[in-house]
Amino acid sequence: MRILVDERGKKYLLKDEEFHTNFGFIKKKDIESCKVGDVLKTHLGREFRVIKPNVNDYIKLMERKCSIILPKDIGMVIAYTGLGSGQRVLEAGTGAGAAAIYFGNIVGPEGKVYSYEVREDFVDVARANISGFALENVFVKFQDIKGGIEEKDMDLVFLDLIKPWEVIEHLNDVLKIGGYVAAYTPYIEQFQILQRVLKKFNFSQLNTLECILRDIEVKNRGTRPKTRMVGHTGYLTFARRL
Ligand SMILES: C[S@@+](CC[C@H](N)C(=O)[O-])C[C@H]1O[C@@H](n2cnc3c(N)ncnc32)[C@H](O)[C@@H]1O
Repeated sequence: MRILVDERGKKYLLKDEEFHTNFGFIKKKDIESCKVGDVLKTHLGREFRVIKPNVNDYIKLMERKCSIILPKDIGMVIAYTGLGSGQRVLEAGTGAGAAAIYFGNIVGPEGKVYSYEVREDFVDVARANISGFALENVFVKFQDIKGGIEEKDMDLVFLDLIKPWEVIEHLNDVLKIGGYVAAYTPYIEQFQILQRVLKKFNFSQLNTLECILRDIEVKNRGTRPKTRMVGHTGYLTFARRL
């Protein structure tokens, strides 16, 4: 898999066809024969570097029909639950497959990710995105998670649903002792209900966090946070089965 990076750092997914941009076009035969590290020139002489995409490059460029989780938030989920190689993750809903791809990449070939999605058109997009990143440890299920969960011995259950509390009662049977529930919700009212339900089903170490990220710009006249920022994405609620 290869992508092109232009002189401003903008990235483009490569297909085996002639490549057109505002900077001119690159011939199909140059695209077909290029290798990672090559610099390709358009007919106007503008340069594009060929690189192998990492998980962030790929997720930014892949197809989507819904909003996806951002690196800052998935980074918190991975760090706060201590997710690592060989672990087992259950997720709902899949959406475009962004969180599933991050998880599959982190748990590696010895780990497994099972992801439930109710919309068939989303399932198709997510499966194509997952196989496009060559992951064989991520399984998308066209199933409503409220209809029951078959998987057991999970290290993490990640919920990106409007009403995540609706599945909490099943999670004691799904999680290992010491396993985590993590839920991503945009509204305060959602995690208030979620925390109540997590307590009712005896989950421990309840914690809700928000990650506010500021990009810093370095200019000749001074260094400071950028004027524009993403004000809010979602709250992350964590709990543990002890
Ligand atoms: C915001 S999207 C998830 C985005 C995903 N986390 C990502 O990063 O690409 C929420 C998804 O949950 C799915 N969904 C909603 N209720 C569900 C349910 N009961 N079972 C399975 N999937 C569900 C929706 O169809 C939608 O695709």
